[in-house]
Amino acid sequence: MKPPGWTAAQWLLCLLFLRISGPGHCYLYNNRYAGDKVIRLVPETEGKAHVLKNVCHQFKVSSCTTGGPMAAQQHLLYLGRNGYRCPYSPKWLSNPVSLLTTSQHPVHIQNWMHHLNKTHSGLIHMFSIGKSYEGRSLFILKLGRRSRAYKRAVWIDCGIHAREWIGPAFCQWFVKEVLQTYRSDPAIRKMLNHLYFYIMPVFNVDGYHFSWTNDRFWRKTRSRNSRFRCRGVDANRNWKVKWCDEGASFHPCDDTYCGPFPESEPEVKAVAHFLRKRKKHIRAYLSFHAYAQMLLYPYSYKYATIPNFSCVESAAYNAVNAIHSAYGVRYRYGPASSTLYVSSGSSMDWAYKNGIPYAFAFELRDTGHFGFLLPESLIKPTCTETMLAVKNITMHLLKKCH
Ligand SMILES: *[C@@H]1O[C@H](CO)[C@@H](O)[C@H](O)[C@H]1NC(C)=O
Ligand SMILES: *[C@@H]1O[C@H](CO)[C@@H](O)[C@H](O)[C@H]1NC(C)=O
Ligand SMILES: *[C@@H]1O[C@H](CO)[C@@H](O)[C@H](O)[C@H]1NC(C)=O
Repeated sequence: MKPPGWTAAQWLLCLLFLRISGPGHCYLYNNRYAGDKVIRLVPETEGKAHVLKNVCHQFKVSSCTTGGPMAAQQHLLYLGRNGYRCPYSPKWLSNPVSLLTTSQHPVHIQNWMHHLNKTHSGLIHMFSIGKSYEGRSLFILKLGRRSRAYKRAVWIDCGIHAREWIGPAFCQWFVKEVLQTYRSDPAIRKMLNHLYFYIMPVFNVDGYHFSWTNDRFWRKTRSRNSRFRCRGVDANRNWKVKWCDEGASFHPCDDTYCGPFPESEPEVKAVAHFLRKRKKHIRAYLSFHAYAQMLLYPYSYKYATIPNFSCVESAAYNAVNAIHSAYGVRYRYGPASSTLYVSSGSSMDWAYKNGIPYAFAFELRDTGHFGFLLPESLIKPTCTETMLAVKNITMHLLKKCH
């Protein structure tokens, strides 16, 4: 998820980094935010949002141009004069590794997949569908009983956006849960007997690496641009569906940069190719993002109702209720355009346009308090409730819907 811009002042949160350490820290590549402060500010009015926009603009983290204690203090004063108070004391940003369990480390995820491929060869098959921009393998886990020749399938991807770490955590959780409960849970058994699951735990594998090693808030891929120094393309704006229209940017330095052409990113191209070849089998496309607590379905790129609205809508309604049944967490649901914001070139719209009838994007916890920095203690409850939703959608698929 990304706030669409400051016209939407309802976005409750601005994570603002005040670079109060010396400028030397800019060159400490491995722990870029060490010594930085996170301050949460809630713009209650358009006026305040404007003030904040000015400051955020000047504090472009990636540029490293503003720095030093003096500058930070001046900006704080400026905010203070304009009616801002810090809602609670700013936290020091530590090494990102301490914020999440190391089991989500990119290297660990890959070892874990190899391990499963060896130890659960009856249910799991691991393969690569290509290479990322930086040459990493794009691994998929195919999960399901090899019982019959023809089976329908569900596609699940996590981590299209690098900084949304709860996504890859959920993909791992899903596989772990399925393997653990396969014998005891009739619903899971039915799912694995009747369907294949293609699971891509880390879609944007270069970006995800980068978010662990250099920039915890990195979103895009890591491809280079021929004319600009800014790197990366938004892998969720790079699909061939109303490509680079509303809600996407042509500018390579923007977080929603759509890329030089559709499927310019090797990761997007590989997945699109894979899905195109199997679109007759794949009944559901599920993509995991964070954060907003929403369950979204097409369209993203326009305000319109999809043809099979009632089947998709009732699946979403039930899934959201399933989430709520676990810990009482409320999710909103609806078409992405009207529920979140308009964006073009998204994977979900692309999947739907290519004939996958159930296309969903989850925006997992939370609604902005921790945002991308969801603490370790919330991983388990978030995954537990999300699992119920995925099960519910999957069971829905196995029934006829009219
Ligand atoms: C997964 O295991 C199978 C053998 O069961 C092997 O052929 C395949 O190469 C393995 N996948 C990877 C990515 O190592
Ligand atoms: C799915 O959710 C609906 C509504 O909450 C519920 O009635 C149904 O039992 C759920 N199905 C599964 C398989 O969880
Ligand atoms: C709508 O549902 C019908 C019946 O399940 C199916 O044949 C058709 O392909 C679906 N259309 C879309 C756009 O999903």
